Amino acid sequence: MSEKSNLMDNIVNLCKRRGFIFPSSEIYGGFNGFFDYGPLGVELKNNIKQAWWKDMVHRRDDIVGLDSTIIHNPTTWKASGHIDNFTDPLVDCKESKMRYRADQLFFAPVIVSGETIGYVSVLEDEGMQAKAEEMAHDMKRKLAKQGEMAPIVLKDFTEAKPEEYALVPSPATGKPGSLTAPRAFNMMFQTYVGAIQDDTSKAYLRPETAQGIFINYKNIVDTGRVKIPFGIAQIGKAFRNEINPRNFIFRSREFEQMEIEYFISPDADWKSIHTGWIEYCMDWFDGIGIPKSRLSLYEHPKAKLAHYSKGTTDIMFEFPFGVQELQGVAARGDFDLSQHQATSGKPMEYFDESSKKKYVPHVIEPSFGVDRVVLAVLSAAYDEEEIEGEKRVVLKLHPRLAPYKAAVFPLVKNKPELVERADALYRRLKRRWNVFYDAAGAIGRRYRRQDEIGTPFGITVDFDTIEKDGKVTLRDRDTLEQIRMTEDELVAYLSEKIDG
Ligand code: GAP
Repeated sequence: MSEKSNLMDNIVNLCKRRGFIFPSSEIYGGFNGFFDYGPLGVELKNNIKQAWWKDMVHRRDDIVGLDSTIIHNPTTWKASGHIDNFTDPLVDCKESKMRYRADQLFFAPVIVSGETIGYVSVLEDEGMQAKAEEMAHDMKRKLAKQGEMAPIVLKDFTEAKPEEYALVPSPATGKPGSLTAPRAFNMMFQTYVGAIQDDTSKAYLRPETAQGIFINYKNIVDTGRVKIPFGIAQIGKAFRNEINPRNFIFRSREFEQMEIEYFISPDADWKSIHTGWIEYCMDWFDGIGIPKSRLSLYEHPKAKLAHYSKGTTDIMFEFPFGVQELQGVAARGDFDLSQHQATSGKPMEYFDESSKKKYVPHVIEPSFGVDRVVLAVLSAAYDEEEIEGEKRVVLKLHPRLAPYKAAVFPLVKNKPELVERADALYRRLKRRWNVFYDAAGAIGRRYRRQDEIGTPFGITVDFDTIEKDGKVTLRDRDTLEQIRMTEDELVAYLSEKIDG
């Protein structure tokens, strides 16, 4: 297994080298917080979205789909609270012009023998406590202070008292006096609709796909033969002007979400439905190659809940840069539907045939970030092994998600009957799956090239195929086992492994 610290670099390099993910607008120096998916990346991402849609929508009886616009009537965002509340606390360093999210900037007083001798500040990461302690000891040494130092207790900058703002050093300069007080920064991207650019034509790129669902709830209830409890699922782009995009595609400014709004009766036991969804999502992750052993849960403290939430639990994944949020499962109560009912004047009530009651439903919201699932899948799949004295980089992707399901190789490329047979098999398989054909180079090298991009099966057409038994050799990427089978057996085998 690759060292943790290098793992992220190795994944980013592999993504670039093999055409999974590129920095956006790279020829112009890139654009911070934006990424493009290349030929293999788009396959992986589409496979994740298709697996999700199949499992969440097609294989369930209680969820229907939706594809709403990215730009809604801007009143949507007033009603949803995003215009007033969808903010991050921003801190500027007046000297360096750097900007920080206040809740990612940590500080502590350095107290020696009861006297505060200064402050240290660090940016949030796994090693920040050790870094802050080292800085504190340096400060004590430089100021030649004797006595015992109190433990360094880090707090984030949103918790700083006004009199502390000027005392906390800027992480950019190491000196105090240049940090501003935190101020609310709205993360929605604005645009204008129509020819006139003024406040009346202002609109927003959606920061979540969820609101598209809420504003279509009534249409779907009126037309869709749905009965509570039921869910509406949507996959699509979301945009946030993040202060600090970071960790590759983990936190970007344009990303994709896969969201479900699951409508329930206000009398239902929302806590158990919420827990049920958390378990269901964890099982889903496990089934696509993100092992449960690397997942954990984080319950948001009441004081830090989003403006719409009465309870949120994040499903956390052990990313190479630390344990971070992969997915949120929020209990939104009736906040959104009630807000839209009050703002639009359109009733959002549901008539429940079984209880003969009318009510505005409550909602449980499992919200997945597609790009974070891509990164988690890649992190879990990436491995480096030694085989026959040679290093091999392998992506152990689940066959459902792999960009290419199989690669077909003629053993040699200068034997026409062999090449023709391999080509015909390739074309037969291609009608059904995305498969690759490669005739160039030694067979071992061809396997390695496919291992690195996660192709689960290599299929070799050799002399025995054309001269003896018509069988081909299937090589399994993970076990390295080689099995000979007929072409019909091969199709059945692949079908079982890929389509499940
Ligand atoms: N509708 C609820 C909602 O949007 P959220 O926790 O803000 O909740 C849900 O976002 C999911 O969207 C997150 O768990 C994460 O997977 C993904 N996400 C949020 N911000 C992101 C960003 N800047 N870049 C990539 N993914 C992001």
